[in-house]
Amino acid sequence: MPENKTRVAVLVQNELNLDLNEVFHDAVAQGAEIVNTPLYHTQDVQEVIAAAKGFDYVVAGREPWNAEVLSACADHLKGIARFGAGFETVDLEKATELGIAVCNAPGVNSKAVAEQALALTLAILRKITIYDRSLRADGVTAKMSQTLEGTVALLGFGNIGCEFAKLLSVFPVKVIAYDPYPNYQAANALGVEIVDLETAVRTADIISLHLPAVKTMKDFICKDVIDLMKDGVYIINTSRGYVVNEHDLADALRSGKIAGAALDAFKVEPFDPDSELKTLPNVVLTPHSAAVSTQAVRMVFNHCAGVIASYMRGDQPRSLLNPEYAKHR
Ligand SMILES: NC(=O)c1ccc[n+]([C@@H]2O[C@H](COP(=O)([O-])OP(=O)(O)OC[C@H]3O[C@@H](n4cnc5c(N)ncnc54)[C@H](O)[C@@H]3O)[C@@H](O)[C@H]2O)c1
Repeated sequence: MPENKTRVAVLVQNELNLDLNEVFHDAVAQGAEIVNTPLYHTQDVQEVIAAAKGFDYVVAGREPWNAEVLSACADHLKGIARFGAGFETVDLEKATELGIAVCNAPGVNSKAVAEQALALTLAILRKITIYDRSLRADGVTAKMSQTLEGTVALLGFGNIGCEFAKLLSVFPVKVIAYDPYPNYQAANALGVEIVDLETAVRTADIISLHLPAVKTMKDFICKDVIDLMKDGVYIINTSRGYVVNEHDLADALRSGKIAGAALDAFKVEPFDPDSELKTLPNVVLTPHSAAVSTQAVRMVFNHCAGVIASYMRGDQPRSLLNPEYAKHR
């Protein structure tokens, strides 16, 4: 291999067995070598460093890109393409200081995640998984479920919140949303009422979380906030486990204060087999799979390939999160 060859590490699993040289054809045409070393979202920083050191660009999964990893890789590393919308795993400030560009994939898999939010909502309301389990066990099932009606509160009204609101428009529901930076144009177009956080929490029959993992929202769904909610509320989480205090949620699910929860994201991932949530019948669990559809994964790969090709050309990708990185190169 020539000394100056540009090297790109794809650290996510290629579950679709895509031809990565074809997906990254623009980067390959510019002389890049594409290496696929899946890290399966490891949290072990040494493992990340071992996989990424010496590469010019990485396509990053949910492994940590903290100061230690970034500093260890900074000799070669020029740019990161986050394989997804969330980027709380990347220390943006440190990356900027080290002159490393960081992009995410905003909006690329939003439709898939919104679809799963709807699927989870219907699964918990209509007791799909409960009925499925009881039929398989002994076939005896007490039947009574809820139809999708009432008020749905979206906490976070960004790309996924908006897509979910579109899907909800065919149901007889009132959709309200809280967002500190509300998109009134989208809200008006979708018939969504923007409300303050407390109103959203107090008035909803179903609360769906679409928040980023920002410090102010750590453990937002906790006892004090749950106490404000209507009795018998449902909680849907396709965002991050970071925003939910799982112990308080489990308590409220046991007491019936919360009638049911459908969760795709957890504090510990992969899902902790000892989690108390597993013991509760009124919970639907999915393994952070909302964005994992054939179509969405292909689109995120294509997006990341475009980001890497732009980095190599010296262009500024549209999804660049830290334009100030260039001052530190
Ligand atoms: N389950 C999955 O597979 C999956 C896939 C993609 C994204 N996600 C997660 O879903 C969430 C939403 O993603 P998105 O693509 O819609 O992001 P987005 O950036 O488009 O939207 C997030 C919205 O939250 C708002 N926001 C910021 N701080 C807030 C706060 N303190 N309270 C309420 N809202 C706040 C922002 O203004 C923005 O409108 C993120 O946590 C993301 O990581 C999960």
